[in-house]
Amino acid sequence: MEMLRTENITMQFGGLTAVKDFNLKLNKGEIVALIGPNGAGKTTAFNMITGVYKPTKGKIYYKGRDITQMAPHSITKLGIARTFQNIRLFKNLSVIDNVLIANHLHVKSNLFEALLRVPKYKNEDRSMMKKSMELLEIVGLIDVKDEKSSSLPYGMQRRLEIARALATKPEVLLLDEPAAGMNPKETEDLTKFIKKIRDDFDLTIFMIEHHMQVVMGISERIYVFDYGITIAHGNPNEIQNNQRVIEAYLGVDDNA
Ligand SMILES: Nc1ncnc2c1ncn2[C@@H]1O[C@H](COP(=O)(O)OP(=O)(O)OP(=O)(O)O)[C@@H](O)[C@H]1O
Ligand SMILES: [Mg+2]
Repeated sequence: MEMLRTENITMQFGGLTAVKDFNLKLNKGEIVALIGPNGAGKTTAFNMITGVYKPTKGKIYYKGRDITQMAPHSITKLGIARTFQNIRLFKNLSVIDNVLIANHLHVKSNLFEALLRVPKYKNEDRSMMKKSMELLEIVGLIDVKDEKSSSLPYGMQRRLEIARALATKPEVLLLDEPAAGMNPKETEDLTKFIKKIRDDFDLTIFMIEHHMQVVMGISERIYVFDYGITIAHGNPNEIQNNQRVIEAYLGVDDNA
């Protein structure tokens, strides 16, 4: 079943074409990666899909429905969640509060209101608390639930971001460089973790990642960007042996 499809989405910033004619297709249950050198347009593609930017050209369909002009919070409600390249947590709030807020964002679109009401949720909304605790259990953060989120090591903060995304009950999850800044052990754990949440939550995952170990290990298909253009698309084996990809990307990537 087709979950997400883009038709020639293009994003221009003044004279710069950050993404040109990107045609993406995600089928239910797939893990698909988007790779490419720095500045290739990967995050811009995510920003179009999640409604942060309106494409200069092209269409985006979620389960057959045109979402091209929808606002980000409406897209979240429909079932597309994301994490950010630069971790975006409420630094001064505890781990559990970060998840509680995300839970409520699913219900309300007003962030400020969600923030103000956190103490109230804790007392009144037992089911929300229970769900948030379950999520923390799944992502392995239950033992640090009362820690300030900014005090967590990097790998844990990334997991917390994923927990927050999961709290909105997505069907499609977009991960923007989930392994960035992680050590080899954390990276390996994350790879297993991504597979596990795909299975446990019935997700379709679209992931930007530089760590080739992660990308080649779990992706069914890979799209490759270079200067906004899709220079290749295929399974890990095809991509690893694609001359154009090797030249544009793999050959120059320190992380590869
Ligand atoms: N809001 C914006 N206004 C102008 N230019 C932008 C904007 N956002 C991105 N760009 C430009 O678009 C290009 C693609 O940026 P983007 O962040 O999508 O790349 P990326 O592939 O995610 O790179 P990285 O691997 O470094 O995260 C870059 O040249 C960037 O400077
Ligand atoms: Mg990026």
